[in-house]
Amino acid sequence: MQEAKHEHWSSGWTFLLAAVGSAVGLGNIWRFPYIVAENGGGAFVLIYMAIVVVFGIPLLMSELMIGRNSQKPPLAAMQSFEGSKPQMLWNAVGWSYLLVPMGILTFYSVVAGWTLDYALGMGIGTFNNLPEGGSATMFQDLLASPVKLIFWMTLSIGITVGIVARGLKSGLEKTVKILMPALFIILIILVLYASITGDFARSFAFMFKPDFSKITPELVLMAAGQAFFSLSLGSGAIMVYGSYLTRDISIPKMAVGVAFADTAVALLAGFAIFPIVFAFGVDHSAGPGLVFVTLPIVFNDMGGIGQVFGVLFFLLLAFAAITSTISLLEPMVAQMSQSGRVTRARVAIYCGAVLWSVGVFVALSNNILQDFHPLGFLPLFEGKTIADTIEFLSANLFMLLNGLLVSVFVGWSVKRSVTLEEMGLGDSVLFKVWFLLVRYIVPLGVGFIFYDVVL
Ligand code: PFF
Repeated sequence: MQEAKHEHWSSGWTFLLAAVGSAVGLGNIWRFPYIVAENGGGAFVLIYMAIVVVFGIPLLMSELMIGRNSQKPPLAAMQSFEGSKPQMLWNAVGWSYLLVPMGILTFYSVVAGWTLDYALGMGIGTFNNLPEGGSATMFQDLLASPVKLIFWMTLSIGITVGIVARGLKSGLEKTVKILMPALFIILIILVLYASITGDFARSFAFMFKPDFSKITPELVLMAAGQAFFSLSLGSGAIMVYGSYLTRDISIPKMAVGVAFADTAVALLAGFAIFPIVFAFGVDHSAGPGLVFVTLPIVFNDMGGIGQVFGVLFFLLLAFAAITSTISLLEPMVAQMSQSGRVTRARVAIYCGAVLWSVGVFVALSNNILQDFHPLGFLPLFEGKTIADTIEFLSANLFMLLNGLLVSVFVGWSVKRSVTLEEMGLGDSVLFKVWFLLVRYIVPLGVGFIFYDVVL
């Protein structure tokens, strides 16, 4: 049997675009600003950045290393390290690295669908001349409409499948080469506009002046969950992207590049949103509605130019979402098409069909099924809808657990000579610091956080 051809990124630069594309997504532009606002600003940002450095970068390096060393998708990768015991456990982790991104995709594509709906809506003027409270009603109407939600979700899954089916070079690479530069340009335009016309000074103080009394265990937990999600850790994307890396590319440099760019975009998203939100005196701690309810009010108040910025903003969100959804579908598709028995395109379509079927229930849990709590009999899942349950399982529990187990795998199970060679840092202080973090600090830290979430 002919194995499917294993492709490689054209260059380190294209890898970086793709990996940053995976990392930069709804997590940065939709979720980060509202979580910062809900958690009191500066203190959260500070803890978040510390977690990115201490846990995030070492784990990015570990996942890239597993991918690159094996040149295989997550499950095959975890099986390919000779003598790493207990193999049963690492197989399970490999599976989890395939299933977590699929779980995330089911709800991520629903929210990605909202961004498409809003981009179109802004473009055709649906949000013009909104009455008082009109934007909240429009958002509720969207959530209450099964047809709309399913339509937009179908479109976002369709786009994702279409890109992934084409493979690494003509699918993923081409997409990120177009969308990522567009994303950066739009973001810069929005930040410039917001800081010139809005309340920049207040936003700066809000994001960077920490109020240390706000630091609580819950805040640390939120920050860790957000950091993992934002850096695409524990969910196969980074590992599978690492498997397309050639040996001449420096893993530590790439990991630092991804972490830096991802954090920069999250902060910039804050500077695109808070200055105008503060200037217009609307509520900045509106939770998930910050982007979908509050911003349309602001764009509406700006007049004609607001419509232009509104379209730009939601296009930005949609582009960021697509470069992430493709990285979420890639691990499973790469794994299942590896043997060459079924073509990549076919696997992508099958996966899309599975995602769509589950996605329908996720979409409906915003309306018809909103009172259905599938695991509600368990204390941890009390009151959680289908969407909440899948999100909690994939983006909280298993994502953290994956990160924890992979750090144990790299720190304790993989031969030190292999890690030493992959990092390309020699037996230097930097290597030793990384190894110390992966071997002790990350498992203990993430283990502690995990314990806190579960118990
Ligand atoms: N990092 C993406 C975001 O911040 O929106 C979400 C994500 C993508 C999580 C890919 C996990 C993943 F594997």
